[in-house]
Amino acid sequence: MASTLRFNGRVVLVTGAGGGLGRAYALAFAERGASVVVNDLGGDFTGVGKGSLAADKVVEEIRRKGGKAVANYDSVEEGEKIVKTALDAFGRIDIVINNAGILRDRSFSRISDEDWDKIQRVHLRGSFLVTRAAWDHMKKQKFGRIIMTSSASGIYGNFGQANYCAAKLGLLGLSNCLAVEGKKNNIHCNTIAPTAGSRMTQSILPEDLVEALKPDYVAPLVLWLCHESCEENGGLFEVGAGWIGKLRWERSLGALVRQRTQPMTPEAVKANWTKICDFDNATKPKSIQESIGSIVEALNKINSGGEVSANPTSRATSATTSEFARAIGHKFPPLYSSYAELDTIMYALGVGASIKEPKDMKFIYEGSSDFSCLPTFGVILAQKSIMNGGLAEIPGLSINLAKILHGEQYLELHKPIPRAGKLRCEAIVADILDKGSGLVILVDVYTYSGEELICYNQFSIFVVGSGGSGGKRTSDKAKAAVAIPNRPPDAVLTDTTSLNQAALYRLSGDWNPLHIDPNFASLAGFDKPILHGLCTFGFSARHVLQQFADNDVSRFKAIKVRFAKPVYPGQTLQTEMWKEGNRIHFQTKVQETGGIVISNAYVDLVPASAISAKTPSEGAGLQSTLVFEEIGRRLQGIGEEVVKKVRAVFEWHITKGENTAAKWTIDLKTGSGKVYQGPAKGSADVTITLSDEDFMEVVLGKLDPQKGSPLCSVVLQVPVRPPLFGDMSPGLGNGEPERTLGQSLQGLTSLFLQSSLFIGTRNKGLRAYSQQNTYKARI
Ligand code: NAI
Repeated sequence: MASTLRFNGRVVLVTGAGGGLGRAYALAFAERGASVVVNDLGGDFTGVGKGSLAADKVVEEIRRKGGKAVANYDSVEEGEKIVKTALDAFGRIDIVINNAGILRDRSFSRISDEDWDKIQRVHLRGSFLVTRAAWDHMKKQKFGRIIMTSSASGIYGNFGQANYCAAKLGLLGLSNCLAVEGKKNNIHCNTIAPTAGSRMTQSILPEDLVEALKPDYVAPLVLWLCHESCEENGGLFEVGAGWIGKLRWERSLGALVRQRTQPMTPEAVKANWTKICDFDNATKPKSIQESIGSIVEALNKINSGGEVSANPTSRATSATTSEFARAIGHKFPPLYSSYAELDTIMYALGVGASIKEPKDMKFIYEGSSDFSCLPTFGVILAQKSIMNGGLAEIPGLSINLAKILHGEQYLELHKPIPRAGKLRCEAIVADILDKGSGLVILVDVYTYSGEELICYNQFSIFVVGSGGSGGKRTSDKAKAAVAIPNRPPDAVLTDTTSLNQAALYRLSGDWNPLHIDPNFASLAGFDKPILHGLCTFGFSARHVLQQFADNDVSRFKAIKVRFAKPVYPGQTLQTEMWKEGNRIHFQTKVQETGGIVISNAYVDLVPASAISAKTPSEGAGLQSTLVFEEIGRRLQGIGEEVVKKVRAVFEWHITKGENTAAKWTIDLKTGSGKVYQGPAKGSADVTITLSDEDFMEVVLGKLDPQKGSPLCSVVLQVPVRPPLFGDMSPGLGNGEPERTLGQSLQGLTSLFLQSSLFIGTRNKGLRAYSQQNTYKARI
């Protein structure tokens, strides 16, 4: 049998408890052990007059039955005094029942100022004043239960009660707000709209109904709502005759009536009116977050060019299992994105790479000999491809973006991510799972460079509150999270995120204001902006790469994580790692709280042996690569002009140790010039062989090619017809090979860094050889 709900030790204040509903509450609370303050002004039902009799009679009745009660005869407009009575008599205040009330019914045009004001003062202002007087005591003791008394008249409207209706629905607004504000201190506030026979309803209800609708049929709801074991908060209940029902807001799916580039018109509103007012598939928003979420979603949709007929203000999804079939296999429009070293460096900084860790330099300095893009950058472009309004466009689903959570993430690399480039992402809905409490939408994203697959992502997107339609719970398409081993971790790395971490990370493309705007964060129910889950993901992956792969990005094969909890910027991330063969299991905690924020995660590594067995890809790890790429970029604006003047193809052989590690061609002969890796596609006019190290020394001006011996070899392979540099070289050069060869090299390398310098030095350069058919020299 359910245990009896007791109120021993609790102090309850009931306003207007001298009769009617208030009296029933006071007696019921006292009977169950509470100490009760019986407040009543003792006037008539219009608020005229006062007296102590009403309150005294109820106190007497309680005491007679062995209960504890004191009387208070103040008007609720003296809230402080009433609460003081409770504190003086019983030392605390736990429960406030705002019940006192009067009526001044008049048809609207006949309501006097006084009729209006008096009703507002007793109902709305009185409830405010009494509750405010109790509030801080409740906060301090981290317990409070408050009841506001509304009315069906306020909820639905009633003839002749404009003043009363306004005040009564005002109380619901007050209650809604206190429910939100009080929640974290275990202060709950609920509202009732009772119907009971009383002095107040005598003149409205037939006599037998007044008799039948006893206040005792309302009191039990009030007691339950005020019990410490009751979790209800912010609820609204109609109650009477032994029946209780809960009310909530319902909102139609609505319609978008505006397009991005066009003004919004009343005609568009008219045209969509049926849809705006259609409650089929309506949503039941519970919080202001859900309200704002829909508006933000509408804005996003309009900004991304959504159709007028589309419906953004949907519930989580409107899909049933048969509709899942339409959604599965849906392809998002492909997304082409270019990125440069700037983007990969910004990403690396965003996930905590730092100059304080020398091994991180390769991720944040483009001049590092082994500059690399962090493998987890692979999620960035993929995420853009599905977040650009694409989720809302999945056929058969109508997803409310305010209700989605990033549940899990899988990333698999097929090649190291290029340091810069243009990639194409193709996303597809792989499957939809029904987890009861929500749907999981699996979105696979394939990222290509040309036809070459660079990486594959699987996003598991959890749509809260939209499951339960009987869909399948698992999928063989899902990349499963894996439990961590049951032993202490083999390694733990920590990193303290900066207060600006989210501000920095968002520059990589996730602009959700939740991560930077305190107002937005609080609307979403957070104390302050939270870090991006994928930022924590990046930190953790970096830790694994650092600990078990010596930061070698070519060893990073795949990663799977489950997002468990949010992180606040400034907190310290602690990645606990377990090595099991080539799989590194990990979980990430917030050190300050011990809470797990990423769980059941792993990184799969390529074994080191497999890497060293592979021939390094041409140009990888060479410093000169950076310079050639830069030449290519600089040539873009001036290529045509330079080609007209130079008309030669230069082939570079860059050596590492004994071997040629890369070949580059600078074609200044055709079109607007070109720089590409590999031997000249036709024949080269000049071939220059040079070690990577010397190349850089010369480029940086640290080594004078005239002095270094032997520095490089230069081969002019084909007759180079004068003028090699055309009219740019009148009378310069003195025909002395060693000197001019060095200068030519310097001239070329100068081009790499400063194209203007190139013009100056090159004149002295190759012109010296322009009369030679073939020349080979060692400098
Ligand atoms: P009631 O008239 O029997 O009780 C109201 C009590 O409040 C009276 O004892 C009165 O003296 C006291 N009161 C009035 N002004 C006060 C003030 N300024 N300070 C302190 N006490 C004051 O009426 P009933 O029916 O018990 O109503 C209780 C509450 O329920 C009221 O707020 C009323 O508006 C509300 N309500 C009642 C319904 C019903 O069917 N009885 C329907 C909807 C709402």
